[in-house]
Amino acid sequence: MKDYASAPYRIKMVEPIRQNTRAEREKLLEEAGHNPFALRSEDIYIDLLTDSGTGTMSQNQWGAMMQGDEAYAGSRSFFRLERTVLDITGYKYFIPAHQGRGAEQVALPYFVKKKGMAFISNMHFDTTRAHVELAGARAIDCITPEGLDTETPHPFKGNFDNEKLTRLIEEKGEDNIAGIILTVTNNSAGGQPVSLENMKETKRIADHYRIPIIIDGARYAENAFFIKQREKGHSKRDLKDIAREMFALGDLFLMSAKKDGLVNMGGIITIKESEALFEHCRTSIVPLEGFPTYGGMSGRDMEATAVGLSEALDEEYLEHRTDQVRYLGDKLIEAGVPIQTPTGGHAVFVDCAAFAPHIPYDAFPAQSVVNQLYLESGVRAVEIGSFLMGRDPDTKENLKSPFEFMRLTIPRRTYTYRHLDHVAEGVKAVYAKRDTLKGYTFAYEPPVLRHFTARLEPL
Ligand code: F0G
Repeated sequence: MKDYASAPYRIKMVEPIRQNTRAEREKLLEEAGHNPFALRSEDIYIDLLTDSGTGTMSQNQWGAMMQGDEAYAGSRSFFRLERTVLDITGYKYFIPAHQGRGAEQVALPYFVKKKGMAFISNMHFDTTRAHVELAGARAIDCITPEGLDTETPHPFKGNFDNEKLTRLIEEKGEDNIAGIILTVTNNSAGGQPVSLENMKETKRIADHYRIPIIIDGARYAENAFFIKQREKGHSKRDLKDIAREMFALGDLFLMSAKKDGLVNMGGIITIKESEALFEHCRTSIVPLEGFPTYGGMSGRDMEATAVGLSEALDEEYLEHRTDQVRYLGDKLIEAGVPIQTPTGGHAVFVDCAAFAPHIPYDAFPAQSVVNQLYLESGVRAVEIGSFLMGRDPDTKENLKSPFEFMRLTIPRRTYTYRHLDHVAEGVKAVYAKRDTLKGYTFAYEPPVLRHFTARLEPL
């Protein structure tokens, strides 16, 4: 597995990007309070902050946008997207939302029937966690131990720890579990996939205790591709078929279409069969997101999403997509840089606890690596570690994240392998001076979601 797939597309529209000087970047980062979220996109050469809404649309998507029906109610574009979503999932009901978190805020409160309930997930994404908590429930992560060990390869590091899941349900009582959230791929653990076998076991447990399963499937197509590549017995199957089998295990599918929907904005709520849940969502969505046939999306966006959802299941596309990630990962491994292995679907996750072990977690080692990477190369990455994790709401202590990751997130169909060489060279330059990296303290710390707006000072 050394060869990397060539791009199954050519580029017919370009967006200029510019490399500024190191002196300029030093000034800009200082002004940004050492927090790249405060940088302007114009001041970045290669932007690997996120793969969310940052990808490139195809000519078929742009073409479809011209057919957007902008009716407030009963838009033709709604019905087109509905057809596509129900066909991919095999579910009964569909409602659009403006993006993934919009879908979460509408659907998740339905499951919280009383005080003190919890959702259990292989790993909650931060907005999912926030909406669980806003709905008055607790969010518990339950990832397989292999996922926490970055050095030892395992094909499905995103898996649920099903034994622990059973233990948690027994301890808390099944009536206190609002739902099981299956995040595919498991973003925060490294874009790591979940195997079908593991999902089926989770489903068996959920059925036994009569707990609903919610699939947080922002990157479900990438997950299906890894099942085909890595799980025994699936190598000859059609991806759509594998995806259908995944969806059959859930009761509700929430999706940020900004990832595997290949659009810049959009979200999806899809319900397998529960009429009560559908009624809840159809009512709640009106004041929160919009009328149920647009839910925050314009007609043209729904058209582009319908096309994007189909394109994202194309195998040649997925092979190239995941090979870009693997390519960057291999370059870093060759240079001795510690990363989560094997690489997952959407990003290379650099293990900064191992990269800069002299920086304690509450001085944010991964933030230090992210910032130095910007200075060296004009590349923007993002911290997924204790800086993002925040503080314990009761004790106000800095929480210690199980990982200190720098995420190099690759937008879909946007950069070339040569761009990724530039990223690898930048990371190598930081690695060469890793002993000189310094941690951070706060100059300003907002009370919630601090990583977006905090200002930092080097120690
Ligand atoms: N679920 C997962 C697994 C996600 O990764 C995200 C977003 C969401 C839900 C929320 O979707 O952004 O459309 O509201 N992840 C982005 C990221 C922001 O950078 O990983 P959204």
